[in-house]
Amino acid sequence: MNVTVGNRARHYRTVDFDVRHNTVRLIEQRLLPHRFKVVATPDYRATAAAIRDMVVRGAGAIGATAAFGLAQGVRAFRGANLDRFEVRVATVYATLKAARPTAVDPVNAMDQVRRRMTQGGTVAEQQDLALAAAQAFADTNVQECEAIGRHGLDLIPEGARVLTHCNAGWLAFVDVGSATAPLYAAQAAGRTFHVYCDETRPRCQGASLTAWELAQQGISHQVIADNAAGHLMQRGEIDLVIVGSDRILARTGEVANKIGTYTKAVLARRHRLPFYVAIPLSTIDWEMGSGRAIPIEERAEEEVLGAWGLAAGNKRTWVRVANPTSGARNPAFDVTPPELITGIITPLGVFRPRQLGRLRRRLEGSEIR
Ligand code: MRU
Repeated sequence: MNVTVGNRARHYRTVDFDVRHNTVRLIEQRLLPHRFKVVATPDYRATAAAIRDMVVRGAGAIGATAAFGLAQGVRAFRGANLDRFEVRVATVYATLKAARPTAVDPVNAMDQVRRRMTQGGTVAEQQDLALAAAQAFADTNVQECEAIGRHGLDLIPEGARVLTHCNAGWLAFVDVGSATAPLYAAQAAGRTFHVYCDETRPRCQGASLTAWELAQQGISHQVIADNAAGHLMQRGEIDLVIVGSDRILARTGEVANKIGTYTKAVLARRHRLPFYVAIPLSTIDWEMGSGRAIPIEERAEEEVLGAWGLAAGNKRTWVRVANPTSGARNPAFDVTPPELITGIITPLGVFRPRQLGRLRRRLEGSEIR
């Protein structure tokens, strides 16, 4: 998307690859909305650390980062011995996979890269194929988000008031975003609407990232406290909810997304409001049989006990909010059951959550329109 820093507007992707230097280029999301900076990770271990420490975050973005990180790691291999090369591939894959557990996109992305690599007969061929496959994953991610926009456009009528949670915008993908794609399409169609961004404690990706993206794009929006959504729904001030996802189980229709999503889905049902989930195909887990099996990331308790912000001198600072002797529990994601979900907006159309499993062949083999 276009980013305006100072008076200059420039197009950026959230994740990119520098072929000459073999580095992954990432927007440093922990500094936003206060500072815009692009960083480069020099090797696959640094790329895995950037995922783990949330320099880059959001399912699609960490999927593309993992794909590039795998290409980066295998391209750094010196030699022609295929057995040793295979060991390197497995090590890089495992390191990147372990960086964050809940989103399935990194696994799906790296599996695509590995499948493509098997077409090469030599180390050099496989290295080239790895990079081509990672680049294809990133490009497809952008095309799929654009298609989500086309399929979701009609869900945003003139004057709509939309609630979204966390950040499933372009910073969570390579570009465009999933939950934000229908909003951008509606804006391009000349519709006026308003977005409420849940602040999304504890890391506040709604207040910091989604609000920044919408401001950059000139879309009317306000940040609300996580606890305010029920009140606004009760007063008839929200018309629909659109969120993203980190993993959707095709076999059950269950949706893992940022902690607090389930609460919003329950509230939406109570108030008979449509609740949509927007995803590219890389967010679908085709095999897992139960939401209980989804690995839910538990993060550091400091995230709950305090908050990050900018102190004097533009220094990123953590301040403690909670009682100094109390500990905290910090599950980062929750699972919403299919009966609370009106539809899944995919690059191939809008489906009921339980339809995804039956549509597998069609979804995997189809052309994006
Ligand atoms: O912990 P994060 O910031 O990586 O969480 C991801 C999210 O922002 C969301 O849950 C989002 O809706 C899905 S990612 C496209």
